[in-house]
Amino acid sequence: MGVDKIQVERPRTPAELEQFAAFPHQVYSARIAWWPPDIRGEVELLRGRAPISSSLEISPFWVKHGGKVVARVSAVINYRYQRHWNERLGHLIHFEALPNETESVVAMLDEACRWLQERGAQAARSGFATFLDYPYAIDNYEGFPSFLLRSTPDYYHSYFKNAGFYTEKGMVDYTIALTEPILERYRAIVSAAPSYGFEVLSWRRYGFNKAIEAWTTVTNAAFAKHWGWNPVAHEEVRPTLAPLEATEVADLSVVAVAQGEAVGVVFALPDLSLALARIRPGFKLAAERGGGSRGALINIGVIESWRGRTVNLAMAAESFLAMAKRAMKYAGYTLVLDDNWPSRKTAEKLGGRVTSNFVVYRRDFTYKSAGA
Ligand SMILES: CC(C)(COP(=O)(O)OP(=O)(O)OC[C@H]1O[C@@H](n2cnc3c(N)ncnc32)[C@H](O)[C@@H]1OP(=O)(O)O)[C@@H](O)C(=O)NCCC(=O)NCCS
Repeated sequence: MGVDKIQVERPRTPAELEQFAAFPHQVYSARIAWWPPDIRGEVELLRGRAPISSSLEISPFWVKHGGKVVARVSAVINYRYQRHWNERLGHLIHFEALPNETESVVAMLDEACRWLQERGAQAARSGFATFLDYPYAIDNYEGFPSFLLRSTPDYYHSYFKNAGFYTEKGMVDYTIALTEPILERYRAIVSAAPSYGFEVLSWRRYGFNKAIEAWTTVTNAAFAKHWGWNPVAHEEVRPTLAPLEATEVADLSVVAVAQGEAVGVVFALPDLSLALARIRPGFKLAAERGGGSRGALINIGVIESWRGRTVNLAMAAESFLAMAKRAMKYAGYTLVLDDNWPSRKTAEKLGGRVTSNFVVYRRDFTYKSAGA
């Protein structure tokens, strides 16, 4: 094969899918600290065996340059998303690429867009799909990202722009220092909750399995109008969260209850960096980034009729107090749309400051037909 030959292919065999899922190692393994991919989970998704598979059509693509894989992406038609928004949008998830490969990467993105177009999509989004894809860094390119996120390389932006994409949305990630004065404020917020007619319980106190059902119902209701969201099904959430019952997730995640009904939910995690991240031996992460001292609030939602009544603040405060009790000195409040003011104000009232910024890309096929 010629050294300059560019070939876009669709990996299919189990060995190829495994190689596809392991590709991020080529991009990030020289980093001091990074989150490795969940290879097994990704292969299951590509083989149509994930809990969400019945709602998706998915195809992985990679591009070889001179016989070597230099980039990858998966094209997805998410029928549940399309029904929810009545929008013929396709998603490009799993994007990763090596540097100095513009021609190859643009060819691959064109081919993936063509696949989406053949299935009726009028646009492609890359960088956000509910629990499937996360956005592209625009700062801290080399830093250790919050759980779920990637410090993607700076050269990704020119790849997307050269392939006809533009910035569709911006997102921010917050960090909160759990200092004593802040914890004191949290205690006051939590103790005022009964005067507003609700109480906040950890998932453990509420009943873990009952909390999983409440999380799914309340999150679907709270996020129904949230940009980019698509509903999640009880049957797919249950098997994902049930194994976490014996972990600190049960103490850090909370439910707000009013007149016996769940009206708000928070899903939160302990610091998973020591268990899951790749950290160069001898290197110690900054305390606010990980190493056992950074908890993570991943998701917060309040049903519309209970908004504006401090349910947001009391739930997050209770979760952060539980983190502080377990020696966590910082909390992440992960991934908020630039224009989600209720959420941004919640993070800032809790003492959060923006520590990372991200973007989501979109290509409208009406402007540049795929491959044109
Ligand atoms: C985010 C959420 C949990 C916040 O809870 P809430 O009960 O709505 O919070 P509030 O109504 O007290 O709003 C928080 C602050 O934002 C302000 N706010 C609300 N809407 C606003 C808007 N459109 N523009 C500017 N500020 C706004 C409120 O005035 C309040 O500020 P204040 O405390 O200084 O008065 C809730 O809105 C929600 O569930 N949203 C949908 C899901 C979601 O976006 N989750 C977060 C994902 S990152």
